[in-house]
Formats: sequence, structure tokens, C-alpha cells
Amino acid sequence: MLKIYFELNGEPMYVEIKPGEMLLDLLRRLGMKSVKEGCRTGECGACTVLLDGKPVRSCLTFAAKIKGHRVTTLEGLGSPANPHPLQEAFLETGAVQCGFCTPGMILVAYDLLSRNPDPTPEEVREAITGNLCRCTGYVKIVEAVLLAAKRRREGVWR
Ligand code: FES
Ligand code: FES
Repeated sequence: MLKIYFELNGEPMYVEIKPGEMLLDLLRRLGMKSVKEGCRTGECGACTVLLDGKPVRSCLTFAAKIKGHRVTTLEGLGSPANPHPLQEAFLETGAVQCGFCTPGMILVAYDLLSRNPDPTPEEVREAITGNLCRCTGYVKIVEAVLLAAKRRREGVWR
């Protein structure tokens, strides 16, 4: 067992990790249920989290690698009682069906909007290209990100 320090959704964490443990398993063990296990091969994006603000596949990231870094999961953006504007936009546009892909989609969208506040539909599609959704056909997800971007430009954001 190795003890590491990192920051999870703004909170300092000092945890033991198992040899070879992946970040996906560590985060699930820490109760981060938004982090989904899909393919485990880096193809679906369901396990996406932000590492120092950049999207990574937690199924391909060794937990040991996050030592001293910042990890953000969807729980760090908003909650049912206090949803993030991206979560609200996803709900309002019908971009959430089974919801399995949604946390990863929202974190990728969050990263996109922090770099590009006024993306085109094509730029949104490009940003989410590595995140698979079996339910929505992607149209409503793109709509949701564009709606959130508009609200962000209007100052409804955090
Ligand atoms: S579970 Fe990590 S990319 Fe699919
Ligand atoms: S809403 Fe079901 S996989 Fe995207």
C-alpha cells in the first residue's frame, strides 16, 4: 500500500492506494459514483474526470499518477440540490436519457467552454468525439452544450 495526497473536488485527500490501482477504482472506492466504468479500454469516455482541469480517462490513469494533483469529478461541479448550469442545460434539452455517458460528457464540455466560450456546433461535436452515447444520437447533447455556452457568456455560470 502506498499513501498519496491529492485534491478531490477541492478537498484535500490523503489515501492509501493499492498496487496497480487505477484512478477509476480509487474514485469509485471514495464514493464518486458519477465516475462510470464502461469499456475499461479508453474507448467510451464514461470514466472521464478532470486532472488539473484537463479531461483524462480514469480507467487508463494509474491512481499513483495523481499524487499532488487536482482531480475533479461531476460531484465537484454540481449536485441535485445545486446543479451546475451545464447539468441544467443537459436536463432542459433532453440530453440525459440513461445518463451513463452524462458525467463524462459534462466534464468534457466544461473543459471545452473554459477554452472556447463560443463554440460552433462542429467544435462541440469534435470535443465530445471521444465520448460515446448509446441513447441520444448526440443532437441534444450538442444543443445542451451550446445552451450552456450561451448562458456562460451571459454570466450565468460558476
Ligand atoms: S471506461 Fe474508461 S474509456 Fe471506457
Ligand atoms: S444518455 Fe445513455 S449513453 Fe448517453
